[in-house]
Amino acid sequence: MPERALPFRLALNAEASRTAPWSAEQDAILSDKGLAAARAVIGGWPGYRPTPLASLSGLSAAFGVRSIAYKDEASRFGLGSFKALGGAYAVARILAAADDPAAVTVTCATDGNHGRSVAWGAAMFGCRCVIFIHAAVSEGRKAAIAAFGADVRRTPGNYDDSVRVAAATAKANGWHVVSDTSYPGYMTVPKDVMQGYEVMASEAFDALPAPPTHIFLQAGVGGMAAAVAALAKRRWGPARPAIVLSEPEAAACWVASFEQGAPTPVTGDLDTIMAGLACGEVSLLAWSILKDHGDAAMALPDAAAARMMRRLAAPARGDPPLVAGESAVAGLAALEAAMTAPDAKAALGLGPASRILVFGTEGDTDPALYREIVGRDAAAVRAQAGG
Ligand SMILES: Cc1ncc(COP(=O)(O)O)c(C=O)c1O
Repeated sequence: MPERALPFRLALNAEASRTAPWSAEQDAILSDKGLAAARAVIGGWPGYRPTPLASLSGLSAAFGVRSIAYKDEASRFGLGSFKALGGAYAVARILAAADDPAAVTVTCATDGNHGRSVAWGAAMFGCRCVIFIHAAVSEGRKAAIAAFGADVRRTPGNYDDSVRVAAATAKANGWHVVSDTSYPGYMTVPKDVMQGYEVMASEAFDALPAPPTHIFLQAGVGGMAAAVAALAKRRWGPARPAIVLSEPEAAACWVASFEQGAPTPVTGDLDTIMAGLACGEVSLLAWSILKDHGDAAMALPDAAAARMMRRLAAPARGDPPLVAGESAVAGLAALEAAMTAPDAKAALGLGPASRILVFGTEGDTDPALYREIVGRDAAAVRAQAGG
């Protein structure tokens, strides 16, 4: 039975084009050389192995596209999200340049997954770690960060407020901020974070049987989307796939920015179940890349994400059951929404020949919330595999 279509907003980026060159400025942010270095370092960490790329033939038939490849980050380094590649890599880079790792303190603001990665890196490489979380971060997420020995501090306000508290506290104490977002005067570390994310993109591109025609990418500050778009542009040039971002309606700063043609913040409590995407300001580094190589952004209601989580947990015939968290499915939900709306479908060039790539960027990183939304826990969902 077809499910009810959900409302969404679509903003096309008038400045983007497939023929836009990969500029020297962009190559100074993300590059083949930087990716090779990240692959060498991250590939040497204990437990490294590429995450699986699932082919969802049942879902692609249901949506009316040729194929859907789903890069499943739920198992990444046992941390449950792709973020394990970014923050921890930036910590490694800071400590490689330090005389005495034990004298270093790293810090960041987080809505969960990034802080977990930074705390894990600090524990792995032996430095101190202080993590700032905002009012809406769940106790479960807090505990997962504290489990790596980090000092976790709660701050009033939303994510963007916690970024400012982390920056000010670090300045007063001589700590290293390991942020996943960039702002004027703070670019080096988030560049390393994004370079770490490119490892995920390269694993996926290497495993695909044919280049994708479209990549749908959920965006918070846009670091992940920019990293994937950057590698797509460098690898395929003018034949790169269409790049479509997807965000929660309550935190649609990429839709606003593409509409205005410039970085444009959105304000408010940014309240959404998609905790990792609850960002009101784009990363300036991500903007430098996506302003040319990001074609569109879509804003979706929370219900679209919840529905897609349940759909992946109880899949169409032939597809594997997938454990995908609240922030993992916005890309796929955007594809679903676009396929039900003729105007959007045409504007994005979607049809029966489309080969889609999405990144399932987290598993059940908040197990209690996952159970509440899906009705079962991750173990029960996975137990269906092969059954
Ligand atoms: C699971 C998940 N997916 C996607 C994102 C978005 O990444 P970015 O903020 O780099 O856009 C996040 C950010 O925290 C996340 O946790």
